[in-house]
Amino acid sequence: MYLFKNIKLSDYKPDTDGWRQEVINGLQTPQKTLPVKLFYDEVGSQLFDEITELPEYYPTRVEQLILDENIAEIAAILGSNCLLIELGSGSSQKTRTLLDYLPQLAGFVPIDISKEHLLQSAADVAADYPHLEVLPVCADYETSFEIPAPVQPVSRRIVYYPGSTIGNFHPAEAVAFLRHIRTVCGDQCELLIGVDLKKDRGILHRAYNDAAGVTAVFNLNILTRLNREMGAEFDLETFAHRAFYNEAAGRIEMHLVSQCDQNVRVNGRVVPFAAGETVWTESSYKYSLPEFAALAAQAGFQVASVWTDDDQLFSLQYLTRTQQ
Ligand code: AVI
Repeated sequence: MYLFKNIKLSDYKPDTDGWRQEVINGLQTPQKTLPVKLFYDEVGSQLFDEITELPEYYPTRVEQLILDENIAEIAAILGSNCLLIELGSGSSQKTRTLLDYLPQLAGFVPIDISKEHLLQSAADVAADYPHLEVLPVCADYETSFEIPAPVQPVSRRIVYYPGSTIGNFHPAEAVAFLRHIRTVCGDQCELLIGVDLKKDRGILHRAYNDAAGVTAVFNLNILTRLNREMGAEFDLETFAHRAFYNEAAGRIEMHLVSQCDQNVRVNGRVVPFAAGETVWTESSYKYSLPEFAALAAQAGFQVASVWTDDDQLFSLQYLTRTQQ
């Protein structure tokens, strides 16, 4: 246990370097891939914040709207004395909407892999909500960790997973991940989760190919990161952003396309690229409501409530455990 401004931190000292081997492995497969977590260094996190403000990137804005419009009903369903657990940073506006409206929270548990970011956002929340017990956990939430117990009795544990980050897992991985969360959180576990929906492909295409080119810079930034942190020698001028909706698979795919035949040194190895060859950097799955209900069922959850916007662009879903 570690104390920062009177906040108790549970620190699992997550391995923040594990992606290096994944990079090496991913660049050796016939379809080259890079791990999605590479996006979120300091610059990448700032670029993602910029993306969430773009006119074409509807998910963040629409999810906030859904939350604002339905917060009274959501608060009534969740009831009093819940322990709110947030996977990822606890500093966003959506979290504050919940903290403002949920009656008598037993505590707030933000979980994040980045210790500084976590401590700062936990301290900000603690300062703004002085009666709330804030119990941050520094962990990779895909590995095992324990949920800390607040002083107040807990009626239920609500895991808040906004932003459709679940869409960045392939469906089988998403099932495994939800099962993992179900195990970590135990009997009282329920989920409030943002899930992006299937829609007109033009809307999807524009969301990942914004006119200002921020998503392209976000995508290329992972090569800058590999150059800096792995001694790679990518020439950013020779790679281009490509994002498209793969309708059969129900996902946006983001790739970086080599503009010429070239060899790139990465960590002492030579990685050959043919002109037009791609590195697949991200998938963002979009679900219909029945598809996501089926996925949740495989992980031991049932959809108890769903809220969407009028255009059915995005959904916020409340999942409870099925008996298994
Ligand atoms: C974080 N995640 C849900 C975003 C998404 O839409 O899949 C990441 C992103 N990639 C490009 N734009 C936004």
